[in-house]
Amino acid sequence: MKKILEVISEEMKKAFRAAGYDGELGKVTASNRPDLCEYQCNGAMAGAKRYKKAPIMIAQEVAKALGGSGVFEEVDAVPPGFLNLKISPVFLKEYLNGMVQNEKFGLEMPEKAKKIMLDYGGPNVAKPLHVGHLRSAIIGESVKRIARYAGHEVIGDIHLGDWGLQMGLIITELKERKPELIYFDENFSGEYPKEAPFTIAELEEIYPTASGKSKEDSAYKEKAMDATFKLQSGVRGYRALWEHIIRVSVADLKKNYNKLNVEFDLWKGESDVHDLIPQMVEEMKAGGHAYISEGALVVDVKEETDTKEIPPCMILKSDGASLYNTTDLATIKERMEKYRPDKIIYVVDKRQELYFEQVFRCARKTGLVSPETELKFLGFGTMNGKDGKPFKTREGGVMRLEYLIDEINEVMYGKIIQNRSVPDKEARQTAQVVALSAVKYGDLSNQASKDYIFDIDRFTSSEGDTGPYILYTLVRIKSILSKYKEAGGQMEKAVLHPACGEPEKALMLELAGFIGMMENAYEETAPHKVCAYIYDIANAFNRFYHETKILAEEDETKKEGWIALLLLTRDVLETCIDLLGFSAPERM
Ligand code: ARG
Repeated sequence: MKKILEVISEEMKKAFRAAGYDGELGKVTASNRPDLCEYQCNGAMAGAKRYKKAPIMIAQEVAKALGGSGVFEEVDAVPPGFLNLKISPVFLKEYLNGMVQNEKFGLEMPEKAKKIMLDYGGPNVAKPLHVGHLRSAIIGESVKRIARYAGHEVIGDIHLGDWGLQMGLIITELKERKPELIYFDENFSGEYPKEAPFTIAELEEIYPTASGKSKEDSAYKEKAMDATFKLQSGVRGYRALWEHIIRVSVADLKKNYNKLNVEFDLWKGESDVHDLIPQMVEEMKAGGHAYISEGALVVDVKEETDTKEIPPCMILKSDGASLYNTTDLATIKERMEKYRPDKIIYVVDKRQELYFEQVFRCARKTGLVSPETELKFLGFGTMNGKDGKPFKTREGGVMRLEYLIDEINEVMYGKIIQNRSVPDKEARQTAQVVALSAVKYGDLSNQASKDYIFDIDRFTSSEGDTGPYILYTLVRIKSILSKYKEAGGQMEKAVLHPACGEPEKALMLELAGFIGMMENAYEETAPHKVCAYIYDIANAFNRFYHETKILAEEDETKKEGWIALLLLTRDVLETCIDLLGFSAPERM
C-alpha cells in the first residue's frame, strides 16, 4: 500500500492538473495548525508567481476541482492561499481496513532485499559489560529489527574485543598469581585441561587489577605487551588460556544480552581476522597505499576537501603489532569476501567517529570494500546521570550493566506492589518486562546521536513519554478486548467503521501514518521515530478511551467498529514495541 500522504497528494495533484496547473504543486503535508485542519497543501502559494495569479484564486479553483472527491470531507481555501484539508471518515476507515487486511499493515517490501551487516554490541572479553555497552546493544538491536521488518536481510555481529592488550594483561596477571599453571610451561606438549583455571568472578577482578598495575608499573606493562605479542603469534599455552577466557566470558555475556532481549547472529571477534592481516598488509603495500613512516606502516587518508586534519591510518606499529584499526580493516575484508554485504552499519560511541572515518577511507582507498557497498557509522551519544556527567555508580565508579538492570527491576517492582496486590512471583516477572521497556524506551526515544540523561524515576513512570506508559496503554486495550470477548463478543469479523467523533478520528489518523513512519525509521536508521509514533498513538487512544464508553455502547455496529479499531491499535503497538526490542506483560 502507498503511504497515506502519498494517496492524498495524488488526489490533490489530480485537482491541480484539472484546474490547469502543474500537478507537482499538489504536495500535501501534515498540518501545522491541527486546530484548523488535518493536512494542508501550500501549492497555490508556490504557484502564484509562475502563473501570475493571486494564490487564493488558485486555491479556490483547486478546491472547486476537488468537489466530488471521495478523499476529502472538507477543503478550505483560506487567505492568502492555503488549502486546509480534512479527510473523509469513509476514506480513512477504508485505508485502515486495508492496513488490517494486508501483511505488515500494507508496508511494501523492497524489490531486491539488501544484505546489511550490523556491527553492534562490541563488548570486550573479560571486562564486565558497563552502561557504555548498553546503548550499542539497545540501538543496534532495534535497528536490526526495523531493517528486517522493512524486508531486508540483516546479519548482526557482536564484534568482540578479544585480541588486544587486555588479553595480555589478564594472562600476565594470571602468571603472577599462578606461575605453576601448566599453560606457562614452555616444554609442555600434552593436552591442556578442559576446565578454565578461573571463574568469571575472578576474571572480572583480574582485569581491573592488571590494568591498574600496568598504569603504575612500566615493567608490568612491558610484560603485558609481550604476553599480547606471544598470544598473537600463536604460543600454545597462551592460546589455550585465551580460549578459556573467551569461553567463560562469552557464556556470561550471552546471559546478560539475553536479559536485554538482544540476540546476535554472529559471535565473531577481532581475533577471527588475525590470519587475514598479513595478506591484507601485503596487498596494501603492493597497491602502493601503505608506506613506512617513523617505523610504522601507514596509509594516508586525508582528502583535499578536508576542513580538519585527518591523520593517516596506522596499519602496523613499528614492532609489527596490529592495532584496533588493523582488525577493523581485516574484518571489512572478511565481511566482503564471505558475505558481500550491500551495507555495513557500525553502532558505536560517537567519540569513535574520526576513527571510523579513517577506517572507512582506508578501506575505500585500498579497495577492501567494493564501491557499491555503503559503510555507515551510526554514532551514539553518552548516557549521563542526573548531574549531566557520564553515568556512574553512587561511589563514582563505572556502573556495571547488571547492577543497573537490577536497580531498575527493584524500582519497578516497588511500583507494582504499591499499586495493587499481585502474587509476588507475578510481580517480579512483570517488573522485569516493564523495567526493560523503561530502559529501552528511555534510550531509544532520543535521537541516537544525542546525549541523554538516564533518569530512573522518569523512565519508570507510567505517565509521560515512557515505556511503561506505552505498556499501560497496551494492557488497557487488551483488557477491554478480553472483557468484550468474555461477554460473548465476536472479534474475528469486526471491521472498522467511519469515525463518529473527533477523538476517534484522531486515533485513526495517527494509525494511518504507519507506512510512512516505517519507511522513515528504516531509511534514517532511526528507532526514535517508532517511539514518537507510538507515543502519539497512545495519547490519541487514551483520549478516545476517556471520552467513549466502549463496552457500554448499545449500538452493536458502532461497538463492533470500535473493537476493530482497538484490535488494530493493539497490533500496531505490539509490532512497534517488538521493533524496539521489548514486549508487554498480560497484566500490570
Ligand atoms: N570493543 C569496542 C569498545 O568497547 C567497540 C567495538 C566497536 N566495533 C568495531 N567494529 N570497532 O570500544
